[in-house]
Amino acid sequence: MKRFSDVPLPPSDLQKLVGSHTPESFIEVGIAFADYFKQRELVKKHYKILEPGCGCGRISKHLISELDPSLGGEYHGFDVHKECIEWAIENITKTYPHFHFKHTDVYNHLYNPKGNIKNLSRMVFPYEENYFDFIYTASFFTHLSREHLEYYLRAIHKLCKNGGTVSSSFFTYNDIQEFEHISEKEMGMKNQYYKFDDVSYIFSQKNPSLVVTYNIEYLKNFIEEAGFSLIQSSTGWQSAWIFKKERPVR
Ligand SMILES: C[S@@+](CC[C@H](N)C(=O)[O-])C[C@H]1O[C@@H](n2cnc3c(N)ncnc32)[C@H](O)[C@@H]1O
Repeated sequence: MKRFSDVPLPPSDLQKLVGSHTPESFIEVGIAFADYFKQRELVKKHYKILEPGCGCGRISKHLISELDPSLGGEYHGFDVHKECIEWAIENITKTYPHFHFKHTDVYNHLYNPKGNIKNLSRMVFPYEENYFDFIYTASFFTHLSREHLEYYLRAIHKLCKNGGTVSSSFFTYNDIQEFEHISEKEMGMKNQYYKFDDVSYIFSQKNPSLVVTYNIEYLKNFIEEAGFSLIQSSTGWQSAWIFKKERPVR
């Protein structure tokens, strides 16, 4: 397995923006997600892959050698952070043209406070429906409100082929007190949680996008309601869930 990518490291502000405060963490997190997908055979040479909230390619750069453009293999990522996308186009697409990155100007309190699209129904996905074999998100739904989470999960269902697989990481709780304890251990500091709505808590009232954690039963039910079959889920700190599109768009 190829361990290192020849794509350079992005500037440290972009590394921090996607949650890595050291270059070592940027490399380790990217490899860990990519290995997770490879070990579960979620990525094949001919696959069309989509990553909503792709950042500056921390994970996708470790998938470059896994996709073969001569067999139809393609990667598409989109993100609201313009600089991340510009960096990825310059440093990844220019060398690997089967890796595509697009900027979407959706408002996000933390990542795109000047975003023009506040009403998600105005967001047009620049992709065909039923196109992708594998769609993954990492540390994406962990920053989204319920409205955005539901919108993107329904959109992912439309964009995924029947039989396609989705892997997404979430923060979830059965009991918020238990989650507070886990997050304190993970973050190395005491956290305060605020009830945001009936199904979610946030970490910071000033910055609601910083950490959003969801009630696990709500999330499981919504994933099924959106037309997926849940294969793997877990409660607590960020972990990958796996679900499959087994029913066509309703
Ligand atoms: C913690 S970073 C993770 C980035 C990437 N998935 C990774 O693991 O390196 C979260 C990303 O989600 C993006 N994001 C937040 N809201 C978004 C939205 N509505 N649409 C697309 N991207 C969004 C942010 O700009 C940021 O790059």
